Amino acid sequence: MVVKEVEKRKEIAVKAALEAGKMLKENFGRISGIKTKSDRNLVTDLDLKADEIITNIIKKAFKDDNILSEERDIPELTAEYTWIIDPIDGTHNFIRSIDIFGVSVGVAQGDKVIAGVIYMPISGELYSAVKGKSAYCNGNEINVSNKDLSSSTLIFDSTIHYNRDAMLTSLGSLADKVFNVRMLGSTVRGLGYVADGKADLEVEYNDKVWDFAAGLLIIEEAGGKVTDLEGKEWNIKTQGYVASNGVMHDEVIRIING
Ligand code: IPD
Ligand code: CA
Ligand code: CA
Repeated sequence: MVVKEVEKRKEIAVKAALEAGKMLKENFGRISGIKTKSDRNLVTDLDLKADEIITNIIKKAFKDDNILSEERDIPELTAEYTWIIDPIDGTHNFIRSIDIFGVSVGVAQGDKVIAGVIYMPISGELYSAVKGKSAYCNGNEINVSNKDLSSSTLIFDSTIHYNRDAMLTSLGSLADKVFNVRMLGSTVRGLGYVADGKADLEVEYNDKVWDFAAGLLIIEEAGGKVTDLEGKEWNIKTQGYVASNGVMHDEVIRIING
């Protein structure tokens, strides 16, 4: 990993997330076009506009890099670096004028995520990390909490309908053991909270790489632990995972695997 190359990309990721976030904040509560992408999956004209802002900034700075965005066709990943973009994470909140949504921009070298930025436009929190270089929110270094499972706040996947029986069983077993549970409707919102110690673990069953690429790196760089649901290493193809402060991680993997 050439640090200068990564740092340059992180700066562009910050710029892109801030620009897209500014536009989203200006238009918050004023959505016009809503389309159905698939069953229970909506997209707005502003998801597409945010995507355009982000990809234009990236293309101007790094024209040869791959761009993998939720709102674009999946490209062939032939270049060394891949940008991984979720222009609005929490679209269904955004549509209902709930201010829990964020912009996520990650960068992978090969299949390893090496930089990540999450911007929460309404609160103004800007999370960022470069692999091996700690995690930050608005310029201040952040760290995960040190709470154990019994005093923890669990953030759980909101798309229960994805795999209802398995997810409800898992939620039921964890609900007995944690202090309280939150479902936020935005993966990146939860991952930011775990990274800066406001929550202690997040369990997701049904995510795509653009939901978690930036956030999982930020949690690891904040001192947390991330694995897939079986306790194995995560990668860009992972769908379900546990992202925690590390303290209760192995215990949680045991519980959800019953
Ligand atoms: C969704 C949100 C939601 C998660 C879904 C994601 P989107 O992303 O992060 O919290 O449970 O799996 O698809 O569609 O708002 O970008
Ligand atoms: Ca998303
Ligand atoms: Ca999205």
